[in-house]
Amino acid sequence: MLLRYKKTYEKIAMGLLSYMPGDKNAKKLQETIHRYETDDSWQLYLLKKEDDFIGLIGVELGDEDYTLFHISVNPSFRGEGVGKEMVAKLQALFPNKECKSTEETDLFIKKCQVKEEGAD
Ligand SMILES: CC(C)(COP(=O)(O)OP(=O)(O)OC[C@H]1O[C@@H](n2cnc3c(N)ncnc32)[C@H](O)[C@@H]1OP(=O)(O)O)[C@@H](O)C(=O)NCCC(=O)NCCS
Repeated sequence: MLLRYKKTYEKIAMGLLSYMPGDKNAKKLQETIHRYETDDSWQLYLLKKEDDFIGLIGVELGDEDYTLFHISVNPSFRGEGVGKEMVAKLQALFPNKECKSTEETDLFIKKCQVKEEGAD
């Protein structure tokens, strides 16, 4: 289940965000979370499976697209399709918007899209 971020998820969200390359120091993490809390066009979601939050995905929404800035999966659950599942769930939330990537998320998004195209 993909849940929209709220303040009570702050610690788990910061833990997951810290796996992103370049977002390691506490000040940068706080700034990132603050942006998601205060700017409506920045939306952060957590993936909950049973009782655990195992993944995080965060985007900046545009009028016709959204840009994937953050995606992270708890290391214990990697390689099981969780990242790809979050990308698909997000696309289902915004079916009329195109998914764009940053330099950091580009390779993974491309990998998800290639798989989708190849799935037919
Ligand atoms: C990147 C990340 C979110 C992938 O999550 P995951 O649940 O392990 O990914 P999935 O199991 O859904 O993988 C789907 C496919 O993407 C590939 N993949 C995994 N990580 C990748 C990466 N960083 N770049 C490109 N492809 C990647 C997998 O090998 C898999 O390919 P396959 O289907 O051919 O085997 C996870 O490794 C992570 O949290 N990394 C640390 C955070 C990070 O670096 N984020 C930025 C990079 S996007």
